[in-house]
Amino acid sequence: MAKKLFVKTYGCQMNAYDSARMADLLAPQGYGAAVAAEEADMVILNTCHIREKAAEKVYSELGRLRALKQTRRAKGGDLVIAVAGCVAQAEGEEVRRRAPWVDLVIGPQAFHRLPELLAETGPCVDTDFPVAAKYALLPEEAGSRGPSAFLTVQEGCDKFCSFCVVPYTRGAEYSRPVADVTLEAERLVAAGSREITLLGQNVNAYHGAGPGDRDGQPWGLARLIRHLAGLEGLTRLRYTTSHPLDMDAELIAAHAEVPILAPYLHLPVQSGSDAVLAAMGRRHRAEDYLRLVERLRAARPDLALSGDFIVGFPAESEADFAATLALVREVGYASAYSFKYSARPGTPAADLEGQLPDELKAERLAELQGLLEAQQMAFNRSCEGRRFEVLLERPGRQPGQLVGRSPYMQAVHLQAPAELMGQAVGVVVERGLANSLAARLAGPHEDLGADAA
Ligand code: 5AD
Ligand code: SF4
Repeated sequence: MAKKLFVKTYGCQMNAYDSARMADLLAPQGYGAAVAAEEADMVILNTCHIREKAAEKVYSELGRLRALKQTRRAKGGDLVIAVAGCVAQAEGEEVRRRAPWVDLVIGPQAFHRLPELLAETGPCVDTDFPVAAKYALLPEEAGSRGPSAFLTVQEGCDKFCSFCVVPYTRGAEYSRPVADVTLEAERLVAAGSREITLLGQNVNAYHGAGPGDRDGQPWGLARLIRHLAGLEGLTRLRYTTSHPLDMDAELIAAHAEVPILAPYLHLPVQSGSDAVLAAMGRRHRAEDYLRLVERLRAARPDLALSGDFIVGFPAESEADFAATLALVREVGYASAYSFKYSARPGTPAADLEGQLPDELKAERLAELQGLLEAQQMAFNRSCEGRRFEVLLERPGRQPGQLVGRSPYMQAVHLQAPAELMGQAVGVVVERGLANSLAARLAGPHEDLGADAA
């Protein structure tokens, strides 16, 4: 009988990519997709360790799965439970200790060994494997990833920002060779994807071996983007997440010169205070970021910016926080993510003096989010009446509705015939809402004109 696999994904898009790859690996073992843990023979929790809250969610989910496993066993069946991803990597032994009913603990660089590990008897922890091997051993994608696909090109981070677990959970920077990335992009397009988002924890530090032989001269991200932009059938490229220090002139130029590169950039700054930026080990000042944004906008005047912010970093003063608000006002973000600082064991910032109380962090977060939400709303409103090209990716909540993304990454919903799913269509934005745009299909004579992107 066919077995069923349920993968629950936490955290970033790189985890979403890894989850799809885990399903690819297990497909030849007879595992089809389940829509919920209740109907699965195996559950994988693909976890995130970035903030304490993210990590704790895993343990509560494991409690629920324990009950499910017990019920199954009482009926003579079973449930295989695996914990993958960054919590597995960072605290694999702790997972086994706190949840001994977990069968497999497998880190983000080791999951290509899933089929092998499944065949072993008894509980198993594997969090140790060179990342290159993972990519070398992954099978071809098992099927279509839909109109918009993720493609991991880079993994890990050498920046060691003082608050961040990523260098410890994902390890040192690794870039996949250009030839491998190209092959995967070609297969995605052949299987129907029209948009590809190139992923990496530090994607603009990409330096993959050039094609030809594996020791070819490394290519930067800009060169990779120009190369992939030539793929027939690919209509849009995005990349995420970038560090300001790695935003080189070539990449900025690509925003001016590569038509299918979306006019949207996620460029986290974390704080607008130089003192906090220094303590975070970001290695640039607020002013450097602002100048960079200027250069990017000079290259692509309609570039929509997104960012990440941390409030309540140790010793952050009122003046430091005010500097963050000032930076946000100066940049004007189309969207952004903001978080309360969470002290992560093993990171240098966790040991800094001046850890702030949660109430103060919550207050600052609310104020920052108020400002960011107002900016997002203003940006969405400014799109009313504009004509965009939208790739229709999935059905919406209302009957007859399809949903896609604007060039600027906004969710766009509209009434459209189901057969348009997967296609790029011209739309006219009717209303800018808090988190999305309401649009209608553009008529045949409503030329996309200069707004097409
Ligand atoms: N506390 C709060 N937010 C964090 N981030 C990373 N580490 C922490 C932490 N310890 C945020 C950063 C990063 C995003 C992915 O998560 O803003 O850009
Ligand atoms: Fe979370 Fe970072 Fe791991 Fe992504 S790489 S899942 S953000 S800890």
